[in-house]
Order: sequence, then C-alpha cells, then structure tokens
Amino acid sequence: MTQDEQKQEVARAALAHVVEGEIVGVGTGSTANHFITCLAEIKHRIRGAVASSEATRKRLEAHGITVFDLNAVDELRVYVDGADEINAAMQMIKGGGGALTREKIVSAVARKFVCIADAAKLVPVLGHFPLPIEVIPMALGHVKRELARFGGTPVVRPGFVTDNGNLIVDLGGLMIADPVQLETALNQIVGVVSNGLFACRPADVCLLGTASGVRTLTAAEQPPASQAPGGT
Ligand code: A5P
Repeated sequence: MTQDEQKQEVARAALAHVVEGEIVGVGTGSTANHFITCLAEIKHRIRGAVASSEATRKRLEAHGITVFDLNAVDELRVYVDGADEINAAMQMIKGGGGALTREKIVSAVARKFVCIADAAKLVPVLGHFPLPIEVIPMALGHVKRELARFGGTPVVRPGFVTDNGNLIVDLGGLMIADPVQLETALNQIVGVVSNGLFACRPADVCLLGTASGVRTLTAAEQPPASQAPGGT
C-alpha cells in the first residue's frame, strides 16, 4: 500500500470519531485533505466544521461544509489532523504545512484529538523532522540568536508567510528527549508565536496507516512518556 493510500484509509477511519450533529475541528495537510473528502460524504450528519487554516477553510467550503469561526464555538468534541512525526506517547511534531499555530488553537478547544498518519510518521524519538516555529517577523534576529542555545540548525522557510502574517523557522538536527520541556522552553522566547511540538497537549488517539490496515494507538496503551522513547 502506498503512503497516499495509507493516508486515505486513516482519513476514512477517522469518520468513526465524528460525533453526529456536532461541529468537527479539521486540520491541515494532505491527510487532512483526504479526511475532508470523506467528511463531505456525511456532511448532512454534522453541523459543520472549524478550520485550522485558510487552505482547509476553502477546501471545506468547496465541499459544501459550513465553516464556523472558532470564537462562535464553545467546545469541539473532536479534532482530526495529520502529523509530521508522532511518538509512542502520542506527542507530535506538526507544522510541515506551516499551520501549527491555528492547529494548536483549534486542538486546544477539542475534547479529543484524533491524529491520522501513515506508518512513516511513527518514530521512536521526535526531531528527525525539522521543528517548525512561527515567529513574528520583527523578532526574527532575536529568535534566531536565542535558538542557538537549543542546538540544531535554524532555517527560515523561504518565501513562506503563515495565515497569521508571520515567518516559519525550521529547527533541524534535534533529538528531542523531553518534548514537553522543549515545547515550553521555546514558547518563552519573545517573538515566538508557537512551536510545532504538540506534547503538552498530545493526541488522544492515533489512527496509523500500515501495510496491513489501520492500527489504532492510544497513549493509555503506551508506556508513560518518561519510559517511552522520546521521554527523559
Ligand atoms: C500542517 O501544518 C501540518 O501540521 C500537517 O498536519 C502535517 O504536516 C502533516 O501533513 P501531511 O498530512 O501532508 O503529511
């Protein structure tokens, strides 16, 4: 099965987590796009969706799915999104598409985070995928200097502006032993809007595409973060 077929399978499997009559939080990226295609088939059974990016909003609307402003919604039962990497503790690196900040905001409102990912995304230690960091443009020099103490190589994503009008710095060459600590520490740098570590609020369930079908992983079934690969 190809990587794209795995993405399609997990996207379809995520429909089982959609709550009838409710508003669904929808992520960004190629796997989330497959989910939107599936969601369109049951659009008459949901109230609508909240989008984690302008690209997702446009795609949802093109499929005739009503898109709500997040501020018009008190709670989301479920948020469905892809990941660039996920570990056994359901902690993720996200933001390959640059939508990390809105993804983090929408997922913070959701009761359940369902990560949909192909097999290649499951890793023992986060950090092989460069960690995206959203930065306010006037702070770029300061943030790059501050990032020096974290190790790794910061690269400004060329020609990219986020939906919020900011820049992305991709921090490569990390082996992230303690994702919660790093997520928290990076957020202390003035000028950083958010970073692509989703460790303080990990996924609740991961639908992982494999050659033999969809595997369902939950943090409860995994060793605690401190014992898991990627823990301290
Ligand atoms: C978007 O900013 C990202 O967080 C995506 O969720 C992530 O890059 C996964 O993308 P794919 O589903 O395209 O692999």
